[in-house]
Amino acid sequence: MRTLLTGSAGFIGFHVAKALLDRGDEVIGYDSFNRYYDPALKESRNAILEERPNFRLVRADIGDRDALEAAFDALVQGADGGEIRVCHLAAQAGVRHSIAHPDAFVRDNVQGFTHVLELCRDREVGGLIYASSSSVYGNSARERLSETDSTSAQCSLYGATKKMNELMASVYNHLYGLRVTGLRFFTVYGPWGRPDMALFLFTGALLRGEAIRVFGHGRMHRDFTYIDDIAAGVVSAIDRNHELLVCNLAAGRTEELMAFIRQIESSCGREAEKEFLPMQPGDVVRTAADLTTARESLGYEPTTTIDVGIPRFVDWYREYYGL
Ligand SMILES: NC(=O)c1ccc[n+]([C@@H]2O[C@H](COP(=O)([O-])OP(=O)(O)OC[C@H]3O[C@@H](n4cnc5c(N)ncnc54)[C@H](O)[C@@H]3O)[C@@H](O)[C@H]2O)c1
Repeated sequence: MRTLLTGSAGFIGFHVAKALLDRGDEVIGYDSFNRYYDPALKESRNAILEERPNFRLVRADIGDRDALEAAFDALVQGADGGEIRVCHLAAQAGVRHSIAHPDAFVRDNVQGFTHVLELCRDREVGGLIYASSSSVYGNSARERLSETDSTSAQCSLYGATKKMNELMASVYNHLYGLRVTGLRFFTVYGPWGRPDMALFLFTGALLRGEAIRVFGHGRMHRDFTYIDDIAAGVVSAIDRNHELLVCNLAAGRTEELMAFIRQIESSCGREAEKEFLPMQPGDVVRTAADLTTARESLGYEPTTTIDVGIPRFVDWYREYYGL
């Protein structure tokens, strides 16, 4: 199998690339190394991928149509009759960032996604697997969020662009028969994670002896999902290549933010000074996923809980930053 993987230097893309490379697949990574967060972290992830003979990188923006076309050509030409897939994870992420930078979200997540869809259609790619988000559910009052629940109201422009991606993908399936799978990721965490997310911010502050800022007064709940479970789900989606699917990928357990923080404190071996603040605009109170579709369609079975996953992250963080 040969996969064009956008966002390969990102948190989830890096882990998916590693999983594909480990089993001998060929991966063409594609990433702009944008400056949303420290590009040095992206370079470090990419350097690990570039050690592998079955990986090559295209360093470009999905908005650069010529560069993207060349990458699709390389994908198709090198396939030698084998199967090809596109796994599209590049996006402008960050619910809070979308409040201040709406243009970046429309450019990368809507216009950029259109480029990917158009080239999948034009080059007759066998299947497109793309990142959606739990943000499409908005502030749903449902106990467990299921793919059949309404997604007609999002709380952030980020969530709205992800919902738009699902609609656009279903149109390309309808019009052109492109096989499309959208994966609604729920708060992903783990080694090589994203510096704008809670675990990274809290761990860094704790280890530096600084106070942590706890939004929503700590009363938010999240279905925190360990990265290896997510990567296994993405690889399964690439393999199973459903005709038209939208699917939650989560841990299937919901933790209160304060329980998450207590686990970080115990992993760091110290208690945090906490500054309790109201919820930030765009955030939702609670996420909890129903995994029935993921189990049935992808054979997905998450295994890592926060008491295992958080210490692994803290170990990685200490090693990476030499603390
Ligand atoms: N991490 C989570 O908890 C989470 C939750 C829900 C959905 N998602 C989605 O999963 C995907 C991957 O997220 P992540 O956490 O790995 O984020 P990330 O920011 O670490 O990775 C995204 C990568 O895409 C690249 N990129 C962004 N815009 C680009 C462009 N226009 N052209 C080329 N490359 C570009 C970035 O440089 C980055 O390396 C995203 O689509 C995100 O919206 C993530």
